[in-house]
Amino acid sequence: MISDNACVKCPPAEKEAIVHVDCVTHKYPDGTKGIHNMCFRVYPKEIVALCGPNGAGKSTLIEHINGLMMPDVGRVRVLGYDIDKKNVSIIRKMVGLVFQNADSQLFSPTVLEDVMFGPLNLGMSPEEARKKAEWALGVVGFTEFSKVPHYLSGGQQRLVAIAGVLAMDPKILVVDEPTGDLDPSNARKIEKLLRELRDKQGISIVVALHDMDMAARLADRICIIKEGAVIAEGKPEDILYDEKLLKSAGLELPDVARLFRDLGLDKKGARRPLSLDDLVSMMKN
Ligand SMILES: Nc1ncnc2c1ncn2[C@@H]1O[C@H](COP(=O)(O)OP(=O)(O)OP(=O)(O)O)[C@@H](O)[C@H]1O
Ligand SMILES: [Mg+2]
Repeated sequence: MISDNACVKCPPAEKEAIVHVDCVTHKYPDGTKGIHNMCFRVYPKEIVALCGPNGAGKSTLIEHINGLMMPDVGRVRVLGYDIDKKNVSIIRKMVGLVFQNADSQLFSPTVLEDVMFGPLNLGMSPEEARKKAEWALGVVGFTEFSKVPHYLSGGQQRLVAIAGVLAMDPKILVVDEPTGDLDPSNARKIEKLLRELRDKQGISIVVALHDMDMAARLADRICIIKEGAVIAEGKPEDILYDEKLLKSAGLELPDVARLFRDLGLDKKGARRPLSLDDLVSMMKN
């Protein structure tokens, strides 16, 4: 798939990619460009973080990866399938999407029915679907099965939305601002869950994040999005320590990078920590 670029303007893929977004432009009906000449890839078993200011195009990109939006120009290819009207239902089964606004994802009368909806749609029996839904709700730690999703708090809705996607055993998980409205303990739990899904189940995860420290702790690769395009990508220890680049995209250094620099530790050749815990243990040593 390395030679599978539909657009020669996109940088060559580093290795075999499972998602190709090749020179995609998407305009909204009012004429606003959501993304423009966007080139983006996802590789197997990685967590890639999309970082960019409000309105940069992160959600627009994300919604192209499961076929919720179609490119006006360019091509999206997921696990060997071009996204088009014919393939879109296959792709939706493989790509689980958690929306930025979890409320828009929940529609059933109870939490359990909501999470069972996906597995039932995949053809599981009601019995199997219930087991799968109970497992997924257990994973996110939300066990009030009979609550009405519409009346849950924003954070609770997000946990249920994540469970709904997990219950479908996606091959690729795409999550838009997963911890925006979660308390610190639930945010940590979701961060840990995303890491485990990569490590134990080999799922690739695309995650849009405003929290730069979470991006540093979690991501294998960072893509900086500005005005509808990827303007830089690379390892967190390079991208998230590049203040000039981050400023040019309207972003800030993560706390860990700022502290490491302000303590005078960011010397040539030094290993750059990606979490405060890592920084503290480096200093102790
Ligand atoms: N339904 C819509 N109609 C018109 N313009 C839209 C629509 N949705 C998004 N846009 C515009 O598309 C651009 C990209 O928006 P998008 O939601 O993808 O940004 P984002 O990076 O996800 O921002 P945020 O960090 O605020 O979630 C913005 O200029 C936005 O105003
Ligand atoms: Mg968004």
